[in-house]
Amino acid sequence: MTFTKRHLLGIEPLHPVEITTLLDLADRYAEMGRGVAKHGHALDGLTQINMFFENSTRTQASFELAGKRLGADVMTMSMQTSSVKKGETLIDTALTLNAMHPDLLVVRHPHSGAVNLLAEKVNCAVLNAGDGRHEHPTQALLDALTIRRTKGRLHRLNIAICGDIAHSRVARSNILLLGKMENRVKLVGPPTLIPAGVSDWGVEVFEDMREGLAGADVVMMLRLQRERMDGGFIPSEREYYHRYGLDAAKLSCAKDDAIVMHPGPMNRGVEIDGTIADDINRSVIQEQVEMGVAVRMAAMELLAANLSAAREAAASGVTA
Ligand code: NCD
Repeated sequence: MTFTKRHLLGIEPLHPVEITTLLDLADRYAEMGRGVAKHGHALDGLTQINMFFENSTRTQASFELAGKRLGADVMTMSMQTSSVKKGETLIDTALTLNAMHPDLLVVRHPHSGAVNLLAEKVNCAVLNAGDGRHEHPTQALLDALTIRRTKGRLHRLNIAICGDIAHSRVARSNILLLGKMENRVKLVGPPTLIPAGVSDWGVEVFEDMREGLAGADVVMMLRLQRERMDGGFIPSEREYYHRYGLDAAKLSCAKDDAIVMHPGPMNRGVEIDGTIADDINRSVIQEQVEMGVAVRMAAMELLAANLSAAREAAASGVTA
């Protein structure tokens, strides 16, 4: 077994070999997704519950489809934070669901660390679908698969991650993953949107977009996450677009074959020009969505296999 984790809570605890194992399996599912028969059986008979305490379109749909394509019984619960008290209530909800014996629990929560806390309380495998500003591991994995498929490798690439780094769990998980795979990672954004302590992350920081994009193989744009801002981080959206919005002129500083990525949802005309986002020769934004399903199928298959091994070991009296 080259993927040994019980849960997928973040990129931080993953070994590069585990990342490669997961991407190799996802690659096979990506091919299957393009064929006529899209079904596998890795999750036959298993129950998957998706708990989203924060709005989501693509991540939720992607997890749901991934589970169904592998044969799981999938239930998606949309939990509005306003109706759920924090802390104890999260745990109570989890314990209630745990009593229904799910095998896979997919959780998105606005508080960093909430998903880790929950994983300690349940008997099934937990997948983090985004917790606060902390981590969004399946997004980083689907980005990695998209890069590996378009660039032919996932090491020694020059990668610029641009925009609202401070509020982004996508940036954090990507920085961790791309760093583990030995890429050159550059963060580009206004100082107000670059998190404190970033110098310990093994990345370079640029305030000027053209300097940051120079020589880039990959340009990853991030959404300006207004809902996570509690003050004035930028002078105005117009000024922000002028300095940090990805348009043809700024993109020309990157390599000629640089790809453009965005996790979605996009603010066209704020962090990215709509024509760049739609340019099929540069933008891989649709491929990212496609790879999302494949990566989530792979992640759930690997975790389900580990869960079943642990249960068998427990049943035969051996400590897993
Ligand atoms: C991201 C998220 O929710 O963190 N979106 C996503 O999962 N596709 C990024 C964002 O919200 O900007």
